[in-house]
Amino acid sequence: MSEVTDSGFLCRLDDLAEGEARGFDVPGLRAKVIVVRRGGGVHGWRDLCPHYAGGTPMAWKRDAYLNGARTHLACHAHGAWFEIETGVCVQGPCLGKRLTRVPLRLDDKGGIHLERPPKGREI
Ligand code: FES
Repeated sequence: MSEVTDSGFLCRLDDLAEGEARGFDVPGLRAKVIVVRRGGGVHGWRDLCPHYAGGTPMAWKRDAYLNGARTHLACHAHGAWFEIETGVCVQGPCLGKRLTRVPLRLDDKGGIHLERPPKGREI
């Protein structure tokens, strides 16, 4: 399990293979941040499926955030699929709802950071 520092550093771009997704525990956040590398970009999402109010963790085991074909983020509770780039649910019980985006920043040394590290209360 990965955990970020106060600076919001998550990992290095080189630590994530193309098409890979990984979850990070972030101090101050009750749900992990999912980082997906895809198509030369990185996308950040909260690990909170919008099927139920308040959100539900989506992976059935550590870092299992993608569907079998690795084309979409997947919630393994009831089979929802989300577009990696937009977070929109395109299949499943929360069709049309969205994951919550987490803005990320890539530094000039290839480090992936939270754009705004959380401060204060848990969200
Ligand atoms: S909790 Fe994610 S699809 Fe039901």
